Amino acid sequence: MNDPQQAPWDGLVVGASLATLDGDRGYGEVQDGALGWRDGCIVHAGPRAALPADPNALSGVVIDAGGGWITPGLVDCHTHLVFAGDRAGEFEQRLQGAGYEEIARAGGGIAATVRAVRAADEDTLLAQSLPRARALLADGATTLEIKSGYGLDFDGERRMLRVARRLGAELGIAVRTTYLAAHALPPEFAGRADAYIEAVIGWLPRLHAEGLVDAVDAFVERIGFSAPQAQRVFEAARTLGLPVKLHADQLSDGGGAALVAGFEGLSADHVEHTGEAGVRAMAAAGTVAVLLPGAFHVLRETRLPPLDAFRAHGVPMAVATDCNPGTSPLLSLRQAMQLACTHFRLTPEEALRGATVNAARALGLRDRGVLRPGMRADFVHWAVARPAELCYWLGGQLAASVHAGGRRVA
Ligand code: NIG
Ligand code: FE
Repeated sequence: MNDPQQAPWDGLVVGASLATLDGDRGYGEVQDGALGWRDGCIVHAGPRAALPADPNALSGVVIDAGGGWITPGLVDCHTHLVFAGDRAGEFEQRLQGAGYEEIARAGGGIAATVRAVRAADEDTLLAQSLPRARALLADGATTLEIKSGYGLDFDGERRMLRVARRLGAELGIAVRTTYLAAHALPPEFAGRADAYIEAVIGWLPRLHAEGLVDAVDAFVERIGFSAPQAQRVFEAARTLGLPVKLHADQLSDGGGAALVAGFEGLSADHVEHTGEAGVRAMAAAGTVAVLLPGAFHVLRETRLPPLDAFRAHGVPMAVATDCNPGTSPLLSLRQAMQLACTHFRLTPEEALRGATVNAARALGLRDRGVLRPGMRADFVHWAVARPAELCYWLGGQLAASVHAGGRRVA
């Protein structure tokens, strides 16, 4: 029993088809599949017929799924789900004709959430954020990226990142934290954006030393920061060996995609206004395009990301919720996949890859997003007859069970 090859598996699921996503295209379909794991990692993801007739010889825990499909656990690679309060009032204002940028310039928007977050202590922030993380988990997300960016001072950013870490521990899922202090200019720095950027750069090593930062992000936009300002933040990240990503070209082409690609960034996110030069730079750097159809939908945008150019140049596309109180109050990654298909005409297969293997890549993670021996045992059993249903149904409860690192979490 000391030989690890001989040790019993911790669990084995049979009786479902697998969409392994192994390989460059297709679902990696295995009819009548079996998925076994040990010590949190997959040891078998293939045909049931490849295993001995008696599965109990392999594992003391054998689950008969009774049909359905198993996919890798979903990876939500772009969220702002730690916040306090809500902005439903702004939603009503926008329906009356007010614009997102107009509300932001009048002191609403991100600044409104900053006021709410600054007034909330850590436990309050955790209590308000937990139901959102639970909703994403219940619909299949086993890895969540969570950004700061509503504190905009040292204590507020730190509190948000600490809450993000606590959410992962509380729910038993993986959380990757992203430092997004360069999200908006706080009122105490009005008219002094460069000085604020210096403060953002000054806080980073201290937060990193506390183990609170996995990546660094910024918002390059007319209502955010300039490309040179984001570049200074990226240089500080590089000094610490931290990877970067960017809110790029959401409302206008600010050269964000090329900027983040120049730092071999993990991802350029939103990218509706990214031009051909930005796409080429992303392709050369291996930077993932993170599509956020929730924000596109809620803001009733019409300008599509350059999807054909991404495909033509081989830029991997990910899909995420962008869960946030302003532009995307979206609590289901499957719903984001649905919106990516309807608005952006992704195929259901592209959307599923976008919410698994390509999303993992947008976080710099190579140990998940595919069902293959050696990968983390993060998987979802779905009550569906075919994978396309994951992008077909609007709403509903399709996840029958969710496992993260081999442990059942929903
Ligand atoms: O990704 N673009 C900036 N950040 C968020 C919106 C944040 C907010 O409005 O609270 C986004 O869409
Ligand atoms: Fe965002």
